[in-house]
Amino acid sequence: MLWNKYLKKYYKRYAWLYIIGILTLIGVDLIQVFIPSLIGGIVDMLRGDSADLWRNTNDILQSCLMIMFIGIGMFVGRIVWRFTLFMASQKIEAGLRHDMFLKGERLSISYYHQNSVGTIMSWFTSDLETIEEFVGWGTIMFIDATFLSVFALIFMFITCWQLAIISLAPMILIIFWGALVEKLVTAKWMQRQKAYDEMYDYSQESFTGIRVIKAFVKENQQLLAFSKIAKKNQDINFSFGKLYIMFDVILQIIIISILTLILCLGGWFVYQAVTSQPMTLFGQVIALQTPGKFFEFIGYFDILIWPLIALGQVVSMRSRAKSSMERIANYLGQPEDIQNPQEPFLLENVKGEISFRNFSFNYPHETGAVLTDINLDIKPGEKIGVVGKIGCGKSTLMNILLRLYNVQPGTVFIDGHDIMECDIDSIRRSIAYVPQDNFLFSDTISNNIAFSDINMSQEMVEEAAKFSDVHDDISEFEHGYKTISGERGVTLSGGQKQRISIARAFAKNAPILILDDSVSAVDVKTEEKILHNLTDERKEMTTIVIASRISTVSHLDRIIVLDEGKLEAFDTHANLMKISPFYKRMVHLQELEKEEEGGQ
Ligand SMILES: Nc1ncnc2c1ncn2[C@@H]1O[C@H](COP(=O)(O)OP(=O)(O)OP(=O)(O)O)[C@@H](O)[C@H]1O
Ligand SMILES: [Mg+2]
Repeated sequence: MLWNKYLKKYYKRYAWLYIIGILTLIGVDLIQVFIPSLIGGIVDMLRGDSADLWRNTNDILQSCLMIMFIGIGMFVGRIVWRFTLFMASQKIEAGLRHDMFLKGERLSISYYHQNSVGTIMSWFTSDLETIEEFVGWGTIMFIDATFLSVFALIFMFITCWQLAIISLAPMILIIFWGALVEKLVTAKWMQRQKAYDEMYDYSQESFTGIRVIKAFVKENQQLLAFSKIAKKNQDINFSFGKLYIMFDVILQIIIISILTLILCLGGWFVYQAVTSQPMTLFGQVIALQTPGKFFEFIGYFDILIWPLIALGQVVSMRSRAKSSMERIANYLGQPEDIQNPQEPFLLENVKGEISFRNFSFNYPHETGAVLTDINLDIKPGEKIGVVGKIGCGKSTLMNILLRLYNVQPGTVFIDGHDIMECDIDSIRRSIAYVPQDNFLFSDTISNNIAFSDINMSQEMVEEAAKFSDVHDDISEFEHGYKTISGERGVTLSGGQKQRISIARAFAKNAPILILDDSVSAVDVKTEEKILHNLTDERKEMTTIVIASRISTVSHLDRIIVLDEGKLEAFDTHANLMKISPFYKRMVHLQELEKEEEGGQ
């Protein structure tokens, strides 16, 4: 069995299924081993002349009936144990998957920067399946094989202990062989999973980026790279298969050798007993004296073959499941670095005041600071613009507010409360956020807009869509608000996606709204309309607009100007034009660009 804290609670929860299943399984094993003695008895009763046969008819019939009843018992028992034990393993798999999903939601963003989606997906699929296979099939095989072999061996010893001892000796070979294969399989299994992850990652990325691949006509190049990865996978699987075949073939050779030994020796014993007199071995008379007993003995060995093979398979199945479980346990045991403080302060009725005090930041596992020594105060209800060159830290500065990363205590405040001391959910509830990549879920537009509240009324959804000027577009779709946006919203235009994600944030009606470069894909007129709505509808609430065009934010209350992670200036547009040469230069450059575009 696999045993760790993540599985233990499920074993406890489904112990009743295991108990019923295992008891039935043992019961089936027990009745099964009576069949060879019944068959042996029939064989012996069939000997002699017709008068003997006639006398034995009733006994023969009785034995046949017994075999039939055992068969029916085995049939019913097998249904019961299959049902209960497979149900338990499926439930454990589902439970673990649930825990893993929950963990995935709790892990910080940085975890996803360090681990690829493909690798994580393979834990959710192939690794979980391997564990399910072991806790289901593995348990069955182990229990079945153990009890069946013990029962069969006991009966074998009763029938003829001398032959049982002789045939047992080569069976030890199987245990050694199994142990050796286990070592090889574990090593190979790791390689195989690694290769599989690589292939998964590559395919996933290729299909997500299919438009770029097509636009750059790089299909062949991608295919070539994929072939290499696929070949690696094939080679590893091939060597894995070879190992299995070798294991199987050698196992078969051992089994057939033992059977040959039994047939030769057992046959010789019976022949001697029938033609002259019973033989003695190890100082005692051999009990194997009739063809019926010989049949019986072979019957027990026949029963023993499956457990021997199963024990070998269980060994390798367990080592595979163990390495899969290690990966999953490692994932489930990851520290959750973004956590609530001991006594979190619950942010309520947020006014929307934001302050940064001597704030510096570098991403986890990175050394260079992305933001340095930021000091600024945003008053409640202010409409703030954020501008600066590409990669200067605009998104980072605002993402910090969502508490997606840990920051130095006493550096970032909302309504005067240090965000490191606040309840994380309450912080996130008070902020509506339009991400720069405008991610939408593969769901209806309506559900995407109502993401913050699944009970949101249709009126509210439409009001939010009107606010971000996308209502008319949606109304023109064949299925209106019920239109499903494709994976990552590919059926929608960039501008539509942007406006739907603005609607989603607006519908949340939070005291702080952050738009991260969210009007870049819409035309100037729509941009004006959305910004006008923003100032109109969110009069009392803080709104922060990150923009690449200065014209987008020039009429807002104040503008944060960032330059390479430093606060260059923070003032109104008019004042900035006077005090910040950097800002003035940006304005000038953008005007020149506009003129050039106009000229062309
Ligand atoms: N998750 C991350 N891990 C490490 N470094 C990051 C991460 N995200 C961003 N960076 C780095 O931080 C710096 C600031 O990035 P940020 O996204 O805040 O810039 P930005 O001003 O929003 O740029 P843009 O105008 O292109 O949106 C960049 O140099 C970027 O490479
Ligand atoms: Mg950005």
